[in-house]
Amino acid sequence: MSNIATLEVNGQKHELPVVTGTENEVAIDIKSLRATTGGVITIDPGYKNTGSCESGITFLDGEKGILRYRGYSIEELAEKADFLEVAYLLIFGELPSTEQLDKFYSDIKSKSVVDDDIRKIVDAFPKSAHPMGVLSSLTSALTAFNPSSVNVDSEEEMYNSVVKILGKFPVLVAWTMRKKQGLPLDYGDNSLGYVENVLKMMFKQPNEEYIQNKVIVDALDKLLILHADHEQNCSTSTVRIVGSSHAGLFASLSAGISALWGPLHGGANQAVLEMLEAIKEDGGDTKKYMAKAKDKNDPFRLMGFGHRVYKNFDPRAKIIKVAADEVLESLGVDDPILAIAKGLEQEALNDDYFVKRKLYPNVDFYSGIIYRAMGIPTEMFTVMFALGRLPGWIAQWREMRLRKEPIGRPRQLYIGETYRDFKNIEKR
Ligand code: CMC
Repeated sequence: MSNIATLEVNGQKHELPVVTGTENEVAIDIKSLRATTGGVITIDPGYKNTGSCESGITFLDGEKGILRYRGYSIEELAEKADFLEVAYLLIFGELPSTEQLDKFYSDIKSKSVVDDDIRKIVDAFPKSAHPMGVLSSLTSALTAFNPSSVNVDSEEEMYNSVVKILGKFPVLVAWTMRKKQGLPLDYGDNSLGYVENVLKMMFKQPNEEYIQNKVIVDALDKLLILHADHEQNCSTSTVRIVGSSHAGLFASLSAGISALWGPLHGGANQAVLEMLEAIKEDGGDTKKYMAKAKDKNDPFRLMGFGHRVYKNFDPRAKIIKVAADEVLESLGVDDPILAIAKGLEQEALNDDYFVKRKLYPNVDFYSGIIYRAMGIPTEMFTVMFALGRLPGWIAQWREMRLRKEPIGRPRQLYIGETYRDFKNIEKR
């Protein structure tokens, strides 16, 4: 294949380099386009065809349903690794040795205390506040309590910020939930593993011992791994673009959390469960909702279906569907919502509209059913997604800083008014 692409604009030919990734993905490098064409830009709303960076973290092939972190398949990682190992892998590029993992976790634990004044901020939120709004605000507030997290130029300073946020974030996650439930805000227990600690911080009742349930620990570990990174999606691109102004890790993550909140992105897991509940309340008529999803005059979409990149199947959804069956069975939970979800999936897979548009269940379709079986409230589902995505956001932010990427600043095609004279107010 030629490594030059030729573009003809206004009768003039321009040669652009063609670059190839390690998985033979091909891209036209347009870095010199404006300079050589006298100001011509490309336009691509939603960045459907635009690579915003070169990255060595996550590879996904949407046609084949492949997802790999640093070369390792998601199926193998979900089965054999734990969340902290995957976090290390994503951030530093290699699976850790036992010593490396021990040091990493011990550094995280040593930074896990959140300034007690953060409780006052938590207290100031109304109980009705959505946990994602609270989490984004608290993560941003951490910057004020940890100003050294902003000017991070050396790898050592970056490392300190990374272990700090990995230590403090689960505390914030637990506090957003406990605040809503009127439970006392507490710190974790550093004698526990990362995921066990998260669960204890979330669920410990003030008057009872918290007993770990292995089924729940393993299921949460798996869910967090499956959510840990997904290359340049909406929230990750947000983290990278905010970080590109050198705003600091915590501020970048706070922006990423806001981006994840939306129902077209991470907020879909909450929306899926609300949709399944609504179908159940409405008598379980899945056909009616399929018809609504296909009706172009109806804004309703089948939540948990479709993906910008996966056009065959979402490998995460496959793993989660199996896990949902296993977890519900192990916990002895009989949730009618699972049957509705499976029915809806069957109908969609055999429906022309969905087949033609290559719409398959995504990661969010079954995850909420597992979260619910664990006792996690629906409004917290996207917060759990954020907890899983944290290592991915950190890895992408760190890569962007180490590669010394320039500040993100897209161009636009102006379609507004041309020059006009100012009119005084009495003449308007
Ligand atoms: N229900 C019904 N129709 C759909 C759906 C859906 N869930 N998703 C896409 N379509 C239709 C859409 O109307 C369009 O039809 P047409 O070609 O006739 O105009 C076609 O399929 C292509 O859709 P699109 O909106 O152009 O595709 P996109 O790549 O811009 O959007 C998406 C991807 C995920 C935002 C979209 O599929 C969607 O809104 N899904 C529901 C929300 C959801 O589950 N989001 C979670 C994504 S996975 C977790 C994450 O990483 O965030």
